[in-house]
Amino acid sequence: MANTEVKLFSIVLLCITVVRGSKTFHQNNEWPTLDAVINDVGGICKTTVETQGYTCEEHKVTTNDGYILSMQRIPVGRSGKKVDKPPVLLQHGIFSDAKTWLGNSPDESLGFILADNGYDVWLANARGTQYSNGHKTLNPNDKAYWDWSWDELASYDLPAFVQYVYNYTGQQRMHYAGHSLGTLMALAALSQGQVLNMLRSSALLCPIAYMNQITSLPVKLAADTFIANDLYWLGISEFNQNGGAGSNFVEDICNKLNLNYSNLMSLVTGPNCCLSSSKTDRSSEPTATKNLIHLSQMIRTGKIAKYDYGDLVQNTMHYGQIFPPLYDMTTIPKEFPLFVSYGGQDMLADVNDVQLLLNDLKDHDKNKLVVLLKENYAHIDFVRAFNAKQMVYDPMMAFFQIN
Ligand SMILES: *[C@@H]1O[C@H](CO)[C@@H](O)[C@H](O)[C@H]1NC(C)=O
Ligand SMILES: *[C@@H]1O[C@H](CO)[C@@H](O)[C@H](O)[C@H]1NC(C)=O
Repeated sequence: MANTEVKLFSIVLLCITVVRGSKTFHQNNEWPTLDAVINDVGGICKTTVETQGYTCEEHKVTTNDGYILSMQRIPVGRSGKKVDKPPVLLQHGIFSDAKTWLGNSPDESLGFILADNGYDVWLANARGTQYSNGHKTLNPNDKAYWDWSWDELASYDLPAFVQYVYNYTGQQRMHYAGHSLGTLMALAALSQGQVLNMLRSSALLCPIAYMNQITSLPVKLAADTFIANDLYWLGISEFNQNGGAGSNFVEDICNKLNLNYSNLMSLVTGPNCCLSSSKTDRSSEPTATKNLIHLSQMIRTGKIAKYDYGDLVQNTMHYGQIFPPLYDMTTIPKEFPLFVSYGGQDMLADVNDVQLLLNDLKDHDKNKLVVLLKENYAHIDFVRAFNAKQMVYDPMMAFFQIN
């Protein structure tokens, strides 16, 4: 990669971390202790759901590899009317958590809309995020705690969430809706035959499967840079941690370049047309560096495969073969109901890559696959647009009704 590109990219990335005030990359020594985590007095129910006048329950589920994750349940809508529809499990994407679904006003946010429409709403928080950073033996200060990618989100977190809801609700099969990486978690799990028997259907908003034609320049550059030099990224996380003079300097550059929050988001996710002005959530949740490396492998190779250790011995040790096994989207059962919605302006789940996924699904039963393209939507519109209810959620609920 050309030197100027690296520089441009590094400035954009630094601006993102500074402007969002985020800890995008995991760092040592800034995590609450495990005790504080389990006793999460100020959890999502208290801070984000009950404040809007909804009943909310906090739940904990432990994955088969020991991670202790939180879920929130909104068991009833504002009217207090009895739930008359099945559970829906909502799975957020990367750098976010369940608040993704609650960020706009109740009339605009999917989490609240589903509750008000009679669904039993369950919100999942993937490992590593603020309210899901417990583990039976590890804590987030341990390097081993972060030894995962979306392979584990699909094979451990998702099955744990689904199984928990299924058990808790008296073996009710549920609908699933995922955004961004939450769609890849479902696609990977479904293609491996996991959780199918407990799901009624799956709604995929901004499906991430193939990533080779991604049009987000910063992300594309990130993928290249990652492979070229991991230390580069580690340097950034250290930079972030130190803060102080260094971060003031960067903030200065960002301000001079006029890279404010909204145009940075556009650079990364596409020009979102319709973000609600009701709230601007700038929080960003951590993820494992290994997860980002895994995603960058997909961007470079165009394949949907398990994490590549980049060395034959390690791959053989983990997989019994020298190349990481592929996920085959054509194995998703043809009669399993799928709702796929994507945006014409999305730079992460770009239309060309989504088309590749749809090609894999070309033999799917026609009446079990709904495809909804919103030409003017980009990546964040699907969870934050003021008109997402009319554009996406109403059709999605109509799809849930008949499946
Ligand atoms: C669900 O119930 C089954 C059978 O009782 C049990 O084996 C499993 O551990 C439970 N799983 C969860 C996540 O609650
Ligand atoms: C961000 O900057 C762009 C121009 O670079 C400007 O049009 C936009 O209004 C700014 N947004 C905010 C929230 O300041």
